Amino acid sequence: MAKAKSSFICQVCGAVYTRWQGRCDSCGDWNTIAEELTDSGVGAGPKSVSGTGRAVPLVPLAGETESAARIETGIAELDRVLGGGFVMGSAILVGGDPGIGKSTLLLQAAAALAERGRSVVYVSGEEAVGQIRLRAQRLGLGDRNVALASETNAENILATLAAGSPPHLVIIDSIQTLWTDRVESAPGTVTQVRTSAQALTRYAKKSGAAVVLVGHVTKDGQIAGPRVVEHMVDAVLYFEGDTSHTFRILRGVKNRFGATDEIGVFEMTSLGLKEVANPSALFLDQRDKGASGSAVFAGMEGTRPVLVEIQALVSPSPLGTPRRAVVGWDSSRLSMVLAVLESRCGVRIGANDIYLNVAGGLKVGEPAADLAVAAALISSLTNAPLPPDAVYFGEISLAGGVRPVVHASLRLREAQKLGFSSAITGRLGTGDKAGGIVVSEFSELADLVGRIAANGRKAPTVD
Ligand code: TYD
Ligand code: MG
Repeated sequence: MAKAKSSFICQVCGAVYTRWQGRCDSCGDWNTIAEELTDSGVGAGPKSVSGTGRAVPLVPLAGETESAARIETGIAELDRVLGGGFVMGSAILVGGDPGIGKSTLLLQAAAALAERGRSVVYVSGEEAVGQIRLRAQRLGLGDRNVALASETNAENILATLAAGSPPHLVIIDSIQTLWTDRVESAPGTVTQVRTSAQALTRYAKKSGAAVVLVGHVTKDGQIAGPRVVEHMVDAVLYFEGDTSHTFRILRGVKNRFGATDEIGVFEMTSLGLKEVANPSALFLDQRDKGASGSAVFAGMEGTRPVLVEIQALVSPSPLGTPRRAVVGWDSSRLSMVLAVLESRCGVRIGANDIYLNVAGGLKVGEPAADLAVAAALISSLTNAPLPPDAVYFGEISLAGGVRPVVHASLRLREAQKLGFSSAITGRLGTGDKAGGIVVSEFSELADLVGRIAANGRKAPTVD
């Protein structure tokens, strides 16, 4: 008998190696590579290539199309991230840390769709039917018409779904618990997860049902991460937040049927997830207006303006290599802003410990936050509180200039709506409207630094 062939597969990113190694070269994670039998299924490759393939018809690019049929849940924050509701026949991955609220969100979505007369099947591999019922009762959704099952075998799930007419929505919670007879690897490994997810994605395309796959993102890499199925689904949504805060953000990172970068904001309450229609008000709720080191950034998340507080603490460092800690922003971007402050504006800041925090647990990815970060840093360094009614936005260039950013009018309008009266930014474009906001335009970062430091209670260390 031929010896069973095995490969070493990274359980986080799916990279394949011929021998074991401690660190995955592809994703850089440690201890994530496990041996898997790859005699069959994915990883084995085609057994033989025969010359008897079937020719498929080739069609022109121009032609009739139907717009994708969608089903709306009525949960506006969810529908927006999906691009207007679940697309029939599509597969959607909802990823996130364990305990963040994925099951709660999807149970609420299932109940909302059932209320609108859609047929929904919820298959849980993690909880027993009784547990799901209890949760539904606690959420006040116990009487909704949702079909439940507790099952982990992909073939059994597919057979169950094939037994009736296809439902509108199928929720599989979670892909990590699925296993299939078709491959020999242990349950929970990349090969199992990928093969099961492939079978369910195929079911979505064939039956026209929308299939939601829930996936846990784990740092330790013990369970196959959902990253390996990202490429085979039509949409990937991440549910983020930290468990010490009550609000959660649903973020689209891939969507074949809509825009990405949209976010939906929810608050976790004792009655489940509540939609937050005005996230800026929530993020600014606890702001300490008179403190130095705090700047309000007028940001954009997808098509929506979101105001958020950026907090900086600059304190003299006893260490040879000062500490840098960043939460909610890119740390290399912070290094860049610090370097520009040092070399272009003459601010001696590099020898300090620097802590930067985006309040409330939001993750900011926009370069437009540069200016708010710089303002917060200078404010903390010189102990100069910034005006509490001002917002900041603008990208900083390596030359020390402040570049204009897109959607200035939207940012300004949101700031005005929330009671802010001034904005500090780069030059506005010709089409940008200030509305009722007093806009101070700075094209050089050094000018802004000088203005903030002038109000400082501590002399700035400027050359
Ligand atoms: P859950 O949806 O089970 O998370 P996931 O499926 O992502 O692992 O959510 C679990 C957390 O949510 C749990 O810590 C308790 C909290 N929670 C509430 O605060 N209120 C509620 O109404 C529910 C159902 C859960
Ligand atoms: Mg869960």
